[in-house]
Amino acid sequence: MSSDIKRIGVLTGGGDCPGLNAVIRAVVKPALREGLDVIGIEDGYLGLIENRMRKLDWLDVSNILTRGGTILGSSNKANPAEYAVPDGHGGWEMQDVRDDVVKLVCEKGIDVLFVIGGDGTMSGAAELIDRGLTCIGVPKTIDNDLWSTEITFGYDTAMATATEAIDKIHTTASSHHRVMVVEIMGRYAGWLTLGSGAAGGADVILIPEIPFTFESICETCRERGRYGKRFTIIAAGEGAKPAGGEMIVSQVDTTSPDPIRLGGVAKVVADEVQKRTGLESRSIVLGHVQRGGTPTPRDRALATSFGYHAFELLKAGDFNKLVVMKGNRLDAVPIKEVANKVRTVPLDHRLVRAARAVGTSFGE
Ligand code: F6P
Repeated sequence: MSSDIKRIGVLTGGGDCPGLNAVIRAVVKPALREGLDVIGIEDGYLGLIENRMRKLDWLDVSNILTRGGTILGSSNKANPAEYAVPDGHGGWEMQDVRDDVVKLVCEKGIDVLFVIGGDGTMSGAAELIDRGLTCIGVPKTIDNDLWSTEITFGYDTAMATATEAIDKIHTTASSHHRVMVVEIMGRYAGWLTLGSGAAGGADVILIPEIPFTFESICETCRERGRYGKRFTIIAAGEGAKPAGGEMIVSQVDTTSPDPIRLGGVAKVVADEVQKRTGLESRSIVLGHVQRGGTPTPRDRALATSFGYHAFELLKAGDFNKLVVMKGNRLDAVPIKEVANKVRTVPLDHRLVRAARAVGTSFGE
């Protein structure tokens, strides 16, 4: 490693997910062993904006491998290009504080900044790189929607949680002969809904990539009734939308650079199915439970490999890249290449084809 590198910074940005601590550990422990100083930045970019950071030692990152969340804290609102400050009239105005952030990082003597996050965090990093900072990225998100990596850690744990929920819904749905619509996170990509819907044997899977019609969903419920199945499980991605319609927005957070929060599609679908078919229907929103808890062994291993690969990039002087998985091999691509892009489910994805083959409807 170049002797110019003496101190690194580490931050976790965006929505938290299981496996973040495993990455922190896999970056910080090797760095300490190489004699580097490590600065942990609190709450993602917010800590850089508000100058909140602390030195990390071995004990700080010991015994955190299995812990969900992030010991550093996170924020999915702070983007140095658009930082919300009170406008003095009860509202908010966005300020560009990128130059202040760059100045602070230089003052603190941080030579390389490790950014662990999703698309928002990488877009933020791309802008800091443009202003002269050196970054290394590690991809995280339960949504699995980050461009150019086939997998992100956190996805496996969230998929296990959502699948377990669908399994449990099965027994109550069949006992009461109901239609149960389970709303699953994932924003504009259907990976989490497709994965857990297929693993949990949902009868209907609704994802943002395949617009649905209410009539098609209702017909699936009726058809199941005709051959003796008196219940139907519908896995609905929060970004699923009717053909010709819009995604359902639950909240607009004006203090966030990415202000749209999706939510509510499960209730809309359940209400419409009940109205059109007369079948008793319920909706269940899994929500943030999907982001919580202990990472699965697969996510722990993946996060550890990603984190250590990021450290290897540092040693090789291969900067401003994001660790990715391609063809089941670890690789790295320029952070700028992934900024502001979303990886959605291809319509001919093998799991879509397999689900269709076993009789699952996509509601179209
Ligand atoms: O990106 C992760 C995610 O959990 C999405 O699946 C979801 O749409 C969003 O974050 C929820 O954001 P918040 O934590 O701000 O409610």
